Amino acid sequence: MKNVLIIGATGQIGTELTMKLRHTYPNGDVVAGYIPGAEPKGELLESGPSHLVDITNPAQIAEAVDKYKVDTIYNLAALLSAVAEAKPQLAWKIGIGGLYNTLEVAREKGCAVFTPSSIGSFGPGTPAVKTPQDTVQRPRTIYGVTKVSGELLSDYYALRFGVDTRSVRFPGLISYVAPPGGGTTDYAVDIYYAAVKGEKFKCPLHAGTFMDMMYMPDALRAAIEIMEADPKRLVHRNSFNIASMSFDPEIIYNKIKEYVPDFEMEYVPDPLRQAIADSWPDSLDDTCAREEWDWQPEYDLDGMTRHMLAHLREKFGIAERKPEVIHV
Ligand code: SER
Repeated sequence: MKNVLIIGATGQIGTELTMKLRHTYPNGDVVAGYIPGAEPKGELLESGPSHLVDITNPAQIAEAVDKYKVDTIYNLAALLSAVAEAKPQLAWKIGIGGLYNTLEVAREKGCAVFTPSSIGSFGPGTPAVKTPQDTVQRPRTIYGVTKVSGELLSDYYALRFGVDTRSVRFPGLISYVAPPGGGTTDYAVDIYYAAVKGEKFKCPLHAGTFMDMMYMPDALRAAIEIMEADPKRLVHRNSFNIASMSFDPEIIYNKIKEYVPDFEMEYVPDPLRQAIADSWPDSLDDTCAREEWDWQPEYDLDGMTRHMLAHLREKFGIAERKPEVIHV
């Protein structure tokens, strides 16, 4: 039996990961940790226990762990890159203060901990193409600084205290369920919403801006598989590069146009997001994840696009627009 606490269960990843964990561990308690103002609703609320857990409050983490005899914590609390630049102190308080609280509870109570890192943990000095697993990590954003620090702190707790910390470096995550909030890769989600709603998409990044992206079902599977991986095979811990696709705005736009031929896009640059994206890698090398725990993505850009368009049309009750038949 496995009892899991998800901190940040109502966020972009948590909403779906909590449900997937409840299906994966039907005999355990999978606890949705939430903060005031972001309470779980609907299926998330009804399908399992919830507990108030503000990551900046160690007593609340400990209380949830004790109450549900939690053995694994998924720490998903974070501010995404662009919003973190507007609130760097809060980004540190949540990203590192919160991680420290989580690791301390895990040390005292014997929990394993998953804390996602990111492509944002790299910076302009990192090799941009096929970025190796072990390489330069000198990010220029507070988001990246918290992610690298988090990788190091998690490794330290494993080495020094034997806490079973593991994680992956997520690319931009794309999903039709819960929207991201304030990230640099968000455009790759927003573009699908615009296409389905028949709106012209205003792209904040310029053509040629390549970043790694991943469809949410692959990301959820990665988060669970790394925690289930055979520890004897793991050479690395925090954090594994994982990858499935890399594209720029032109490539995703043209892919969507294959299915929505009248879709239009214009470039409306956002200097902050552009500067952040330019400092991140174009594509990661995920060989270590493939070798150490058999990581394998299932979705490519085409498969993800078909899935996203179909599910967003269903979500908004929008019928697929067929090209007009012209009778001559
Ligand atoms: N999706 C994140 C962001 O754009 C990167 O991991 O901030």
